[in-house]
Amino acid sequence: MREAEGLLNRRLLMVAGMVNPCEKIFDIGTDHCYLPVYLISKGICKKAVATDIKKGPVKIAQRNVRLFDMEKSIDVFISEGISHVEKGSSIVISGMGADVIIDILVKDMEIAKSAAQVIIQCQSRTERLRAFLWDNGFEIKTEALTQDKDKIYNAFLTSYSGITGTYTKIDTIASKHLVEIHHPLLSDYLSGYIKKLDDIISGYMAGGRDFAEETDLKRGLEALYEDI
Ligand SMILES: C[S@@+](CC[C@H](N)C(=O)[O-])C[C@H]1O[C@@H](n2cnc3c(N)ncnc32)[C@H](O)[C@@H]1O
Repeated sequence: MREAEGLLNRRLLMVAGMVNPCEKIFDIGTDHCYLPVYLISKGICKKAVATDIKKGPVKIAQRNVRLFDMEKSIDVFISEGISHVEKGSSIVISGMGADVIIDILVKDMEIAKSAAQVIIQCQSRTERLRAFLWDNGFEIKTEALTQDKDKIYNAFLTSYSGITGTYTKIDTIASKHLVEIHHPLLSDYLSGYIKKLDDIISGYMAGGRDFAEETDLKRGLEALYEDI
């Protein structure tokens, strides 16, 4: 059997580090299936169900499960979203953009609400995902950031509590949790975001569009950047 050590990049190691030990983990959009292989090999989860919407990734995932001799511990099949997930389970959705993740949750909201833990690693528009989770009664229990090459990635551990919180636009970009724990990557994350806003503002200026909202947000983020 192959060794799972060194299998995960920093982004996926961050995701694995957020998973609370459980009987069975459902990895949605598994692609290569590295995460379930790692979680089983470390004894963090006893069983896994690894699914993907596409045939190609499922074939690769099945090959990797065989390579690691984990056919008895990991089921792999084609499935869209979380419709196949047993209620009360643990779910990982990693490596997709906010819009796709929100679609997956909305389509099977009752399953998402019942989950013991949902670990989410979002590749783009994370602020939209945070707002969606808060608006829909999902509590973000903890968050992490990591840097892989030149990109900063985040991950959340969330579950449904039914309590909807109030928040500002700035909270959706730099959540209070990350600010409170003085996350060492937060200032780099913020400066990257401010740079993105600069580019948007320049584009809007050139196109004669109103950019007051983006300017306000940029000022708010700059103030936070100075504070942390
Ligand atoms: C970029 S890969 C991420 C792989 C792995 N989860 C990771 O974090 O490295 C995204 C995978 O999600 C799959 N996917 C996209 N939308 C999906 C959906 N609605 N349901 C299941 N899988 C989906 C894609 O086919 C692709 O294999």
